[in-house]
Amino acid sequence: TIKKVGMFMENKIEAIILFAKQKLAADKTGHNMDHLTRVANMSQKLSSHYHVNEFITISAAYLHDVIDDKLVSDPKEALADINNFLIQLEIDKNTINQIIEIITHMSYSSTLEHDYPLSLEGQIVQDADWLDAIGAVGIMRAIYFGGHHGITIYDPTINPRTNMTKKDIRDFSRETVINHFYEKLLLIKDKLNTKEAKKIAAHRQEIMLQFLNDFKSEWDAQS
Ligand code: ADP
Ligand code: NI
Repeated sequence: TIKKVGMFMENKIEAIILFAKQKLAADKTGHNMDHLTRVANMSQKLSSHYHVNEFITISAAYLHDVIDDKLVSDPKEALADINNFLIQLEIDKNTINQIIEIITHMSYSSTLEHDYPLSLEGQIVQDADWLDAIGAVGIMRAIYFGGHHGITIYDPTINPRTNMTKKDIRDFSRETVINHFYEKLLLIKDKLNTKEAKKIAAHRQEIMLQFLNDFKSEWDAQS
């Protein structure tokens, strides 16, 4: 994954991976290490098309969920932890600030509150994270998340919500797994930043639409 950033930085990335592993060890909501690995691999793939600092994209990819308030009780403390950890690794202040800026502003819910102009590195990691929420993996993660949180699979009497706010996203009482596709997952392709990510999203969109179509026709005993 990390040959392009060079041997010296490679050791730092190994250390960051271990740090993230420890922080996410207990998570069962789909934010496990394999999500971080996929986001890092996709960040690297997208990075190869642009002139970016690959150490920053890969580091931010591995750290982006470590401050998620669904995972840690105190995101501020988690952020301070990350900061101290990166200082210990002797990463320069400017690089640390760029990584922290990305992980504090890239989440889907934060973009519903305000538009924050991310660096190209940040746009790439955001795209990689959002790509992991769509397609076959996205379908699997939505169902896995829904099961963990006791969300109903489907209820044709509950309409998908529109113009979702950050607060709505956390309100599972009005959620179904199928509605989550209409409320968020199908909207992702038009919110992606980079052309390369949009290309990848096109096929994943088809997979989700096909799935929803078949799901509903089976539900209605039509097929
Ligand atoms: P991300 O890693 O992109 O920040 P989230 O923290 O929003 O993702 O959620 C983790 C996974 O769970 C994603 O794949 C997301 O689509 C899914 N998920 C989040 N909220 C819901 C929901 N209300 N119903 C079903 N799936 C959900
Ligand atoms: Ni994520």
